[in-house]
Amino acid sequence: MITVNFSPKVDLEKANKILHEIARNRMGGWLRLPRGMDMGEFVRIKEAAKKIQDESEYLVCIGIGGSYLGHRAIIEALRPKSETKIIYAGNSLSRRELDRALEKVGDHDFSINVISKSGTTLEPAMAFGEFKKKLIEKYGETEAFSRIYATTDRHQGALHDEAEAAGYTRFVVPDTIGGRYSVLSAVGLLPMAVAGVNIDKLLEGASAAVETTVEPATKYAFMRYDLATKGYDTEVFASFEPATMYFNEWLKQLFGESEGKNQQGVFPASVIYSTDLHSLGQFMQEGRRNLWETIIDFPTDEINEKVVAAVRIAHAQGGIPVLDIGVSSYDEVGFGELIYFFELACAMSAKLFGVNPFDQPGVEAYKAELKKLMGNG
Ligand code: PA5
Repeated sequence: MITVNFSPKVDLEKANKILHEIARNRMGGWLRLPRGMDMGEFVRIKEAAKKIQDESEYLVCIGIGGSYLGHRAIIEALRPKSETKIIYAGNSLSRRELDRALEKVGDHDFSINVISKSGTTLEPAMAFGEFKKKLIEKYGETEAFSRIYATTDRHQGALHDEAEAAGYTRFVVPDTIGGRYSVLSAVGLLPMAVAGVNIDKLLEGASAAVETTVEPATKYAFMRYDLATKGYDTEVFASFEPATMYFNEWLKQLFGESEGKNQQGVFPASVIYSTDLHSLGQFMQEGRRNLWETIIDFPTDEINEKVVAAVRIAHAQGGIPVLDIGVSSYDEVGFGELIYFFELACAMSAKLFGVNPFDQPGVEAYKAELKKLMGNG
């Protein structure tokens, strides 16, 4: 169960209205994912994961943003055991990175999970082209196509059309769920299952959180808004577990893309302690006082606990608000709860700022400019 150590003034009427609006929103499908999972799809995900594990040493996961960060966050944090290793591609346009990924796969047996809701994003499309070529060269077209798993829109898009025509195994990004809220759908579940994450337990945690996180998430959303109106414009997520670096990245995307519009929102940043106490720790202690710190407090060993306590005291003395989010366990259940907690809190927080938590017009803007520069605009 998620706990918080702060109690802002909550306008209950407003909170209920916001919760109601989120639940009724066309893009609010993620709220119902943990308990309303399509069990047919869930079984297919597990079967596909087993097949991939049986026939591949590597699964190349191709995707960017919400089609990438959630599953990487959990896989890196839990470091589960699986004979099949995950390789990530299509999350940048760096030729160097792509070549490294192709080289790493080398002559090993591999499969591809290409993930893109729109099916048109340049980064994954480019990487997919390269890995598909390699797959066909290695196995021939028929077997190659049986090793491609496409997670995309149910009805439309270039990837959907290609997958349908070529007969790739398909999984769906539900119409009612946007990229950054999709980790508990096939987007995240298939790569996690292949990597050895216990996806039943993850959903169990998220499912329990459906009720238990409403209160802490509401407090957290109101606390963020309260701090922002007092001039704190930056939130620094602090974790004391190095393996949660990608969870921080997921958080930054979730909040940054959901809230940062109409000149509103809080800038999300992150640190890993105690490592960053020896770099950014100086700024946290004595730098410009426009930020607050949100500690994600996982159960940890005794010495690390002492550092958490020391940081709380020192940084509060340094004049920054320190919020504490307590997580019950460092495992699938704990992360399932945490995912649901942050998704709910983020959607509520964006609503408090008066912006739409579920669109990303700013991301589209760069895509349009890039298209023009590449001569397709
Ligand atoms: O959260 C989002 O909506 C974005 O980060 C998208 O996931 C990202 O831009 C990738 O889009 P797509 O899945 O359509 O390739």
